[in-house]
Amino acid sequence: MIQLDCVTKSFGTTRALDGLSLAVRPGEIFGLLGPNGAGKTTTIRLLNGLFPPDSGSLSVFGMDPQKQGSEIRARAGILTETPALYERLSAEENLLFFGNICGISQQKLVQCVFEVLDLFGLEARAKERLAGFSKGMKQRVALARALLHDPELLFLDEPTSSLDPESALQVNDLIRTISRDGGRTIFLCTHNLLEAQRLCDRVAVLDAGKILASGTPAELAAALFPGVRVEIDMEAPAPVNLAEKLAVCQGLRSIQWEGGTALMDLADHADIPGMVATLVSAGARITRVEPRPVSLEEIYFQLRKNHGGHT
Ligand SMILES: Nc1ncnc2c1ncn2[C@@H]1O[C@H](COP(=O)(O)OP(=O)(O)OP(=O)(O)O)[C@@H](O)[C@H]1O
Ligand SMILES: [Mg+2]
Repeated sequence: MIQLDCVTKSFGTTRALDGLSLAVRPGEIFGLLGPNGAGKTTTIRLLNGLFPPDSGSLSVFGMDPQKQGSEIRARAGILTETPALYERLSAEENLLFFGNICGISQQKLVQCVFEVLDLFGLEARAKERLAGFSKGMKQRVALARALLHDPELLFLDEPTSSLDPESALQVNDLIRTISRDGGRTIFLCTHNLLEAQRLCDRVAVLDAGKILASGTPAELAAALFPGVRVEIDMEAPAPVNLAEKLAVCQGLRSIQWEGGTALMDLADHADIPGMVATLVSAGARITRVEPRPVSLEEIYFQLRKNHGGHT
Protein backbone atom coordinates (compact mmCIF):
# COMPACT_ATOMS: atom_id res chain seq x y z
CA MET A 1 0.00 0.00 0.00
CA ILE A 2 2.84 2.35 0.96
CA GLN A 3 6.51 1.73 0.29
CA LEU A 4 9.56 3.88 1.03
CA ASP A 5 13.08 2.74 0.11
CA CYS A 6 16.16 4.58 1.37
CA VAL A 7 14.43 7.96 1.24
CA THR A 8 16.42 11.05 2.19
CA LYS A 9 15.17 14.61 2.46
CA SER A 10 17.01 17.69 3.70
CA PHE A 11 15.87 21.24 4.30
CA GLY A 12 18.99 23.38 3.98
CA THR A 13 21.47 21.78 6.31
CA THR A 14 18.79 19.89 8.29
CA ARG A 15 18.53 16.26 7.29
CA ALA A 16 14.88 15.47 8.02
CA LEU A 17 14.92 11.92 6.60
CA ASP A 18 18.08 9.87 6.46
CA GLY A 19 17.64 6.66 4.46
CA LEU A 20 14.08 5.88 5.52
CA SER A 21 12.65 2.51 4.44
CA LEU A 22 9.28 1.14 5.46
CA ALA A 23 6.26 -0.67 4.07
CA VAL A 24 2.61 -0.39 5.07
CA ARG A 25 0.29 -3.31 4.33
CA PRO A 26 -3.34 -3.04 3.19
CA GLY A 27 -5.89 -2.87 6.02
CA GLU A 28 -3.47 -2.26 8.87
CA ILE A 29 -3.15 0.65 11.26
CA PHE A 30 0.51 1.54 10.99
CA GLY A 31 2.03 3.87 13.58
CA LEU A 32 5.03 6.06 12.85
CA LEU A 33 6.35 7.01 16.27
CA GLY A 34 9.04 9.48 17.12
CA PRO A 35 9.93 12.58 19.10
CA ASN A 36 9.50 16.16 17.87
CA GLY A 37 11.53 16.75 14.73
CA ALA A 38 11.99 13.01 13.99
CA GLY A 39 10.64 13.43 10.45
CA LYS A 40 7.07 12.13 10.77
CA THR A 41 5.31 15.07 9.08
CA THR A 42 7.99 15.21 6.38
CA THR A 43 7.22 11.54 5.60
CA ILE A 44 3.48 12.29 5.26
CA ARG A 45 4.20 15.31 3.06
CA LEU A 46 6.45 13.26 0.77
CA LEU A 47 3.82 10.54 0.50
CA ASN A 48 1.26 13.18 -0.47
CA GLY A 49 3.49 14.60 -3.18
CA LEU A 50 4.10 18.01 -1.58
CA PHE A 51 7.76 17.78 -2.54
CA PRO A 52 10.08 15.12 -3.99
CA PRO A 53 12.69 13.18 -1.98
CA ASP A 54 16.37 14.08 -2.49
CA SER A 55 17.10 10.40 -3.12
CA GLY A 56 15.44 7.02 -2.72
CA SER A 57 12.02 5.96 -3.95
CA LEU A 58 8.50 5.93 -2.59
CA SER A 59 5.08 4.80 -3.74
CA VAL A 60 1.47 4.88 -2.58
CA PHE A 61 -0.91 2.32 -4.16
CA GLY A 62 2.11 1.48 -6.36
CA MET A 63 2.10 5.05 -7.77
CA ASP A 64 4.62 7.86 -7.57
CA PRO A 65 3.20 10.78 -5.51
CA GLN A 66 5.10 13.28 -7.67
CA LYS A 67 3.69 11.99 -10.95
CA GLN A 68 0.28 10.61 -9.95
CA GLY A 69 -0.60 12.84 -7.02
CA SER A 70 -4.19 13.43 -8.10
CA GLU A 71 -4.89 9.69 -8.54
CA ILE A 72 -3.48 9.06 -5.06
CA ARG A 73 -5.45 11.91 -3.48
CA ALA A 74 -8.67 10.54 -5.00
CA ARG A 75 -8.11 7.32 -3.03
CA ALA A 76 -6.48 8.71 0.14
CA GLY A 77 -7.57 11.14 2.84
CA ILE A 78 -5.36 13.27 5.05
CA LEU A 79 -5.68 14.92 8.43
CA THR A 80 -2.80 17.36 8.78
CA GLU A 81 -1.24 18.62 12.02
CA THR A 82 -3.19 21.88 11.86
CA PRO A 83 -6.28 21.30 9.75
CA ALA A 84 -7.73 24.52 8.35
CA LEU A 85 -11.49 24.82 8.65
CA TYR A 86 -13.74 27.83 8.22
CA GLU A 87 -14.75 29.11 11.64
CA ARG A 88 -17.61 31.19 10.26
CA LEU A 89 -19.19 28.26 8.47
CA SER A 90 -21.16 25.51 10.18
CA ALA A 91 -19.85 21.92 10.37
CA GLU A 92 -22.21 20.96 7.55
CA GLU A 93 -21.20 23.94 5.38
CA ASN A 94 -17.50 23.18 5.92
CA LEU A 95 -18.01 19.59 4.79
CA LEU A 96 -20.11 20.62 1.78
CA PHE A 97 -17.49 23.20 0.80
CA PHE A 98 -14.54 20.80 1.00
CA GLY A 99 -16.54 17.99 -0.62
CA ASN A 100 -17.23 20.28 -3.58
CA ILE A 101 -13.51 21.01 -3.91
CA CYS A 102 -12.87 17.24 -3.93
CA GLY A 103 -15.21 17.00 -6.90
CA ILE A 104 -17.85 14.81 -5.25
CA SER A 105 -21.16 15.11 -7.16
CA GLN A 106 -23.74 17.30 -5.38
CA GLN A 107 -26.28 14.54 -4.85
CA LYS A 108 -23.70 12.10 -3.51
CA LEU A 109 -22.10 14.80 -1.36
CA VAL A 110 -25.29 15.58 0.56
CA GLN A 111 -25.63 11.87 1.40
CA CYS A 112 -21.90 11.58 2.36
CA VAL A 113 -22.08 14.64 4.62
CA PHE A 114 -25.19 13.26 6.30
CA GLU A 115 -23.43 9.92 6.87
CA VAL A 116 -20.19 11.32 8.31
CA LEU A 117 -22.02 13.78 10.57
CA ASP A 118 -24.01 10.85 11.90
CA LEU A 119 -20.92 8.61 12.29
CA PHE A 120 -19.08 11.35 14.16
CA GLY A 121 -21.99 12.23 16.46
CA LEU A 122 -22.17 15.77 15.10
CA GLU A 123 -25.63 15.78 13.55
CA ALA A 124 -27.28 17.69 16.44
CA ARG A 125 -24.85 20.62 16.04
CA ALA A 126 -24.30 20.36 12.29
CA LYS A 127 -25.84 23.78 11.61
CA GLU A 128 -23.83 25.68 14.24
CA ARG A 129 -20.82 27.79 13.37
CA LEU A 130 -17.48 26.09 14.01
CA ALA A 131 -16.30 29.12 16.01
CA GLY A 132 -18.42 27.86 18.91
CA PHE A 133 -17.01 24.30 18.79
CA SER A 134 -14.50 22.83 21.24
CA LYS A 135 -11.14 21.62 19.91
CA GLY A 136 -12.30 18.01 20.13
CA MET A 137 -15.40 18.76 18.05
CA LYS A 138 -13.36 20.67 15.46
CA GLN A 139 -10.98 17.73 15.23
CA ARG A 140 -13.94 15.43 14.59
CA VAL A 141 -15.09 17.76 11.79
CA ALA A 142 -11.56 17.69 10.34
CA LEU A 143 -11.50 13.90 10.50
CA ALA A 144 -14.96 13.78 8.90
CA ARG A 145 -13.65 16.00 6.10
CA ALA A 146 -10.75 13.61 5.44
CA LEU A 147 -13.27 10.77 5.10
CA LEU A 148 -15.82 12.45 2.83
CA HIS A 149 -14.64 10.83 -0.40
CA ASP A 150 -14.56 7.40 1.28
CA PRO A 151 -10.79 6.92 0.96
CA GLU A 152 -9.12 3.51 1.18
CA LEU A 153 -6.12 5.01 2.93
CA LEU A 154 -6.02 7.67 5.61
CA PHE A 155 -2.99 9.68 6.74
CA LEU A 156 -3.39 11.02 10.27
CA ASP A 157 -0.74 13.41 11.60
CA GLU A 158 -0.97 13.70 15.39
CA PRO A 159 -4.78 13.42 15.40
CA THR A 160 -5.14 13.87 19.17
CA SER A 161 -2.17 16.05 20.12
CA SER A 162 -4.20 19.05 21.25
CA LEU A 163 -7.12 17.17 22.76
CA ASP A 164 -7.99 16.44 26.38
CA PRO A 165 -7.94 12.75 27.40
CA GLU A 166 -11.67 12.27 26.91
CA SER A 167 -11.79 13.84 23.43
CA ALA A 168 -8.61 11.92 22.53
CA LEU A 169 -10.33 8.66 23.51
CA GLN A 170 -13.35 9.56 21.38
CA VAL A 171 -11.13 10.29 18.38
CA ASN A 172 -9.24 7.00 19.00
CA ASP A 173 -12.56 5.13 19.00
CA LEU A 174 -13.50 6.80 15.72
CA ILE A 175 -10.16 5.85 14.17
CA ARG A 176 -10.72 2.23 15.20
CA THR A 177 -14.25 2.32 13.74
CA ILE A 178 -13.03 3.90 10.51
CA SER A 179 -10.37 1.22 10.17
CA ARG A 180 -12.58 -1.74 11.06
CA ASP A 181 -15.77 -0.80 9.24
CA GLY A 182 -14.23 0.37 6.01
CA GLY A 183 -11.28 -2.06 5.94
CA ARG A 184 -9.22 1.08 5.48
CA THR A 185 -5.48 1.36 5.86
CA ILE A 186 -4.36 3.99 8.35
CA PHE A 187 -0.96 5.65 8.50
CA LEU A 188 -0.81 7.31 11.90
CA CYS A 189 1.96 9.64 13.09
CA THR A 190 2.07 10.15 16.80
CA HIS A 191 4.32 10.72 19.75
CA ASN A 192 1.57 9.50 22.04
CA LEU A 193 2.72 5.98 22.90
CA LEU A 194 -0.48 5.01 24.67
CA GLU A 195 -2.44 5.96 21.57
CA ALA A 196 -0.14 3.86 19.39
CA GLN A 197 -0.45 0.95 21.79
CA ARG A 198 -4.24 1.15 21.70
CA LEU A 199 -4.57 1.48 17.94
CA CYS A 200 -1.65 0.16 15.92
CA ASP A 201 -1.16 -3.27 14.38
CA ARG A 202 2.46 -2.43 13.55
CA VAL A 203 4.72 0.47 14.42
CA ALA A 204 8.03 1.94 13.34
CA VAL A 205 10.12 4.09 15.66
CA LEU A 206 11.68 7.05 13.88
CA ASP A 207 14.46 9.16 15.33
CA ALA A 208 16.43 11.86 13.51
CA GLY A 209 15.09 10.63 10.16
CA LYS A 210 16.09 6.99 10.69
CA ILE A 211 14.00 3.96 11.60
CA LEU A 212 15.29 2.42 14.83
CA ALA A 213 12.99 -0.61 14.67
CA SER A 214 9.69 -1.74 13.19
CA GLY A 215 7.21 -4.56 13.72
CA THR A 216 4.26 -5.44 15.91
CA PRO A 217 4.61 -4.19 19.50
CA ALA A 218 4.92 -7.90 20.53
CA GLU A 219 7.78 -8.49 18.06
CA LEU A 220 9.64 -5.41 19.26
CA ALA A 221 9.11 -6.43 22.88
CA ALA A 222 10.44 -9.96 22.23
CA ALA A 223 13.53 -8.60 20.47
CA LEU A 224 14.35 -6.00 23.13
CA PHE A 225 13.18 -7.75 26.26
CA PRO A 226 13.63 -11.50 25.78
CA GLY A 227 12.00 -13.64 28.45
CA VAL A 228 9.04 -12.76 30.61
CA ARG A 229 8.42 -10.15 33.28
CA VAL A 230 6.19 -11.26 36.15
CA GLU A 231 4.55 -9.08 38.79
CA ILE A 232 4.21 -10.65 42.22
CA ASP A 233 2.32 -9.20 45.16
CA MET A 234 2.97 -10.63 48.59
CA GLU A 235 1.79 -9.80 52.06
CA ALA A 236 4.15 -7.63 54.09
CA PRO A 237 6.63 -8.23 55.47
CA ALA A 238 8.44 -10.03 52.66
CA PRO A 239 10.66 -12.90 53.91
CA VAL A 240 14.13 -11.74 54.97
CA ASN A 241 17.03 -12.35 52.56
CA LEU A 242 14.56 -13.03 49.77
CA ALA A 243 17.08 -12.19 47.05
CA GLU A 244 19.57 -14.73 48.47
CA LYS A 245 16.93 -17.43 48.63
CA LEU A 246 15.92 -16.72 45.05
CA ALA A 247 19.52 -16.90 43.83
CA VAL A 248 19.10 -20.64 43.21
CA CYS A 249 15.95 -20.08 41.22
CA GLN A 250 16.25 -21.27 37.61
CA GLY A 251 15.88 -18.65 34.91
CA LEU A 252 15.66 -15.66 37.25
CA ARG A 253 17.58 -12.73 35.78
CA SER A 254 16.68 -9.81 37.99
CA ILE A 255 14.30 -8.53 40.66
CA GLN A 256 13.10 -4.98 41.11
CA TRP A 257 10.56 -3.60 43.50
CA GLU A 258 7.72 -1.24 42.61
CA GLY A 259 6.25 -0.46 46.02
CA GLY A 260 5.05 -3.79 47.43
CA THR A 261 5.16 -5.50 44.02
CA ALA A 262 8.19 -7.56 43.00
CA LEU A 263 9.05 -7.45 39.29
CA MET A 264 10.91 -10.59 38.28
CA ASP A 265 12.58 -10.98 34.89
CA LEU A 266 12.67 -14.65 33.95
CA ALA A 267 14.19 -16.39 30.95
CA ASP A 268 10.99 -18.23 30.08
CA HIS A 269 7.34 -18.79 31.02
CA ALA A 270 8.33 -22.32 32.09
CA ASP A 271 10.43 -20.82 34.90
CA ILE A 272 7.39 -19.27 36.63
CA PRO A 273 6.22 -22.34 38.68
CA GLY A 274 9.74 -22.98 40.08
CA MET A 275 10.13 -19.34 41.04
CA VAL A 276 6.73 -19.33 42.81
CA ALA A 277 7.60 -22.58 44.64
CA THR A 278 10.91 -21.06 45.81
CA LEU A 279 9.10 -17.96 47.07
CA VAL A 280 6.52 -20.04 48.95
CA SER A 281 9.17 -22.24 50.57
CA ALA A 282 10.99 -19.06 51.62
CA GLY A 283 7.83 -18.11 53.54
CA ALA A 284 6.31 -15.55 51.14
CA ARG A 285 2.53 -15.22 51.30
CA ILE A 286 1.73 -14.56 47.65
CA THR A 287 -1.52 -12.78 46.76
CA ARG A 288 -1.00 -12.25 42.99
CA VAL A 289 1.25 -13.54 40.20
CA GLU A 290 0.82 -11.97 36.77
CA PRO A 291 3.00 -11.82 33.65
CA ARG A 292 3.26 -8.19 32.56
CA PRO A 293 3.30 -7.35 28.84
CA VAL A 294 6.06 -4.93 27.85
CA SER A 295 4.54 -1.55 27.07
CA LEU A 296 5.29 0.39 23.93
CA GLU A 297 6.71 3.07 26.19
CA GLU A 298 9.34 0.67 27.56
CA ILE A 299 10.15 -0.45 24.01
CA TYR A 300 10.48 3.13 22.80
CA PHE A 301 12.79 4.25 25.58
CA GLN A 302 14.90 1.11 25.34
CA LEU A 303 15.32 1.65 21.59
CA ARG A 304 16.28 5.26 22.04
CA LYS A 305 18.73 4.28 24.80
CA ASN A 306 20.31 1.58 22.59
CA HIS A 307 20.80 4.15 19.86
CA GLY A 308 22.22 6.81 22.11
CA GLY A 309 19.10 9.00 22.10
CA HIS A 310 17.83 11.00 25.04
CA THR A 311 15.46 9.23 27.37
N1 LIG B 1 9.66 23.17 5.42
C1 LIG B 1 10.72 23.00 6.23
N2 LIG B 1 11.76 23.86 6.23
C2 LIG B 1 12.84 23.69 7.03
N3 LIG B 1 12.98 22.66 7.88
C3 LIG B 1 11.99 21.76 7.94
C4 LIG B 1 10.81 21.89 7.14
N4 LIG B 1 9.99 20.84 7.41
C5 LIG B 1 10.62 20.11 8.36
N5 LIG B 1 11.82 20.65 8.67
C6 LIG B 1 12.79 20.10 9.64
O1 LIG B 1 12.88 18.70 9.43
C7 LIG B 1 12.92 17.99 10.65
C8 LIG B 1 11.77 17.01 10.72
O2 LIG B 1 10.58 17.76 10.86
P1 LIG B 1 9.12 17.08 10.89
O3 LIG B 1 8.13 18.18 10.89
O4 LIG B 1 9.02 16.07 9.80
O5 LIG B 1 9.16 16.33 12.30
P2 LIG B 1 7.98 15.63 13.11
O6 LIG B 1 8.48 14.26 13.45
O7 LIG B 1 6.70 15.74 12.37
O8 LIG B 1 7.95 16.49 14.45
P3 LIG B 1 6.69 16.93 15.39
O9 LIG B 1 6.45 15.77 16.32
O10 LIG B 1 7.23 18.11 16.13
O11 LIG B 1 5.52 17.25 14.51
C9 LIG B 1 12.93 19.04 11.75
O12 LIG B 1 14.26 19.30 12.12
C10 LIG B 1 12.31 20.25 11.07
O13 LIG B 1 12.78 21.45 11.64
MG1 LIG C 1 4.94 16.59 12.82
